[in-house]
Amino acid sequence: MKKLQGAGLRGQSAGQTSLSTVEQEGSLRYLGYSIEDLAKNATFEEVAYLLLHGKLPKYEELKEFENELFALRKVPSSLLSVLESIPKDAHPMEVIRTIVSFMGVIEPEVSFDEQLKITKRLLGVTTSAIVYWYKFSHHSRKIDLHTEEKSIAAHFLKLLSEKDVPELNAKTLDVSLTLYAEHEFNASTFTGRVCASTMSDIYSCLTGAVGSLRGPLHGGANEEAMKMLEEINSIDEAKNYVSQKLDNKEKIMGFGHAVYSIKDPRSNIIKEYSKKLSLGHPDRVLHEVAEVIEDQMWSIKKLFPNTDFFHAPAYHYLGIPTKLFTPLFAIARIIGWSAHIYEQRDNNRIIRPSADYIGPEDRDWLDIDSR
Ligand SMILES: CC(C)(COP(=O)(O)OP(=O)(O)OC[C@H]1O[C@@H](n2cnc3c(N)ncnc32)[C@H](O)[C@@H]1OP(=O)(O)O)[C@@H](O)C(=O)NCCC(=O)NCCS
Repeated sequence: MKKLQGAGLRGQSAGQTSLSTVEQEGSLRYLGYSIEDLAKNATFEEVAYLLLHGKLPKYEELKEFENELFALRKVPSSLLSVLESIPKDAHPMEVIRTIVSFMGVIEPEVSFDEQLKITKRLLGVTTSAIVYWYKFSHHSRKIDLHTEEKSIAAHFLKLLSEKDVPELNAKTLDVSLTLYAEHEFNASTFTGRVCASTMSDIYSCLTGAVGSLRGPLHGGANEEAMKMLEEINSIDEAKNYVSQKLDNKEKIMGFGHAVYSIKDPRSNIIKEYSKKLSLGHPDRVLHEVAEVIEDQMWSIKKLFPNTDFFHAPAYHYLGIPTKLFTPLFAIARIIGWSAHIYEQRDNNRIIRPSADYIGPEDRDWLDIDSR
């Protein structure tokens, strides 16, 4: 089929933002701070504050923010009942979409002044609720959703493992949430902004964004990368895998990017954590196989791993079921989506582009009997 001209709006500006810059040569900055500096020095909560408030928090501001997030985590009992009715074979992104949408029913946004509180509430509620659904539907257990963990990363891992969380594990997930928090005008963020531009409520904007993130060409790639890595049992198998797939014209999930052309700056950061976690892990070969695939993709196709690829082994080492990979991306991205929704609302004009018509010329009407 002929490729549509300008398909995917690639390279075209669709508006202004002061939240992040994504540069083709492989640089990502949130409000001017490099992703490398943020991943190394900031916690996810600090990054969330930065994106939502437009500045890094002072010590007291950060403590207050963390306390607020902690206090707003409680999952309403009506939502627990909804979660208990969602079957095991539902896609977890459908569960996230339902959580966000249902929260909009029971705690609606009456005024835009409530937007910041709603973001904070959704961050905690989605984190707890997705684990609750997973344990209920897959292990028939109603878990206690209270932990003393202040960080979202440690809270999630503790709910999941029901054990104390090793420091490296908590740090890895914390960094991962920072990497996933924001990424300019990607498909899901743009979805959220289009919805926000109609002056709709924040839950509708976020529900739409979750729907866009679900697709395998966007957030779903980390899950697909994991499924692929699980098919490969050894380094030798990995060496032939890429050429076979490419010969069959299949895509290798977790590679390539719509904006970056030589590297995704987030990939090396999560790769380092995957490597650290792999040492001493019985599934160490998973990371080694991933490195072989990376080399092969570069030498055959000059394609580089995007952030999703090494997230797959890293999340596996953290004991996170593959099904929960994309929901974690969504939880982190609630921050970026919300910041974009606030920005859109602050200086709004309804987003309504035009299209280049490529259909038939003007025609005369034909009666049904003459067609
Ligand atoms: C991210 C992605 C959607 C970007 O899409 P895009 O900018 O439209 O890039 P294209 O799909 O046009 O790719 C350009 C070329 O590279 C190839 N390519 C891109 N990604 C590829 C991949 N992961 N595996 C194999 N080939 C790939 C395309 O087939 C195309 O080749 P062609 O010119 O011979 O047709 C695409 O790279 C992809 O589908 N990657 C896999 C899914 C993924 O990891 N998504 C997460 C993104 S963060």
